[in-house]
Amino acid sequence: MQTFDAIEKRHSTREYKDRPVPKEMLEALVDAGRRAPSARAIEPWEFVVITERKILDAFAALISTGTFLNQASACIVVLCEDVKYYLEDGSAATENILLASTDLGLGTCWIAGDKKEYAADVLKFLDVPDGYKLISLVAVGWPARASHQHKKRKLDEVIHWNRFVKRPVIKDPRVCRILAEAEKNSPSKK
Ligand SMILES: Cc1cc2nc3c(=O)[nH]c(=O)nc-3n(C[C@H](O)[C@H](O)[C@H](O)COP(=O)(O)O)c2cc1C
Repeated sequence: MQTFDAIEKRHSTREYKDRPVPKEMLEALVDAGRRAPSARAIEPWEFVVITERKILDAFAALISTGTFLNQASACIVVLCEDVKYYLEDGSAATENILLASTDLGLGTCWIAGDKKEYAADVLKFLDVPDGYKLISLVAVGWPARASHQHKKRKLDEVIHWNRFVKRPVIKDPRVCRILAEAEKNSPSKK
């Protein structure tokens, strides 16, 4: 799969088939994660791959926004040492895992880590030494049904060239089209 295809196809999946994900695939996902960019090339990450049903079920009970972990075949817990850019580094690794999963036909969902009230409990549960942050928990499994990416904000709505152009927040697509046309024809674009 081409990179842009994976980016377009990736979406959060919260329902999974009762079918294991091969170890080699989980290793490939972590391999994708570890290849992410990191500030100052510190690579502060560690990845805990959970495949034991009882741990997945315990996390489903502990993590209010990750109850569907009780269906997932695996969960990749992304941790980072508490360095200056831990959150950016860990998030880059997480996104790599999501895109690599899409490439393999796997469904995933990014479950929040940092800032969540359960973070300390998750770290303790996994025997993580002091000095590490919980970045994310990626639920992994075979999607139970075919689904597509949610509607995203349009390119025209989010792109700015050379300076930030303040745009009125208008949801009516007809008005958006007229405004986009007007912006395209504005003197600064000619
Ligand atoms: C930092 C972050 C934290 C998230 N935490 C959760 C979460 O705890 N539980 C959940 O079900 N989804 C979580 N998500 C997934 C988002 O809900 C999802 O990406 C969003 O609804 C857009 O849908 P999409 O992923 O299908 O494009 C999180 C996503 C990000 C980036």
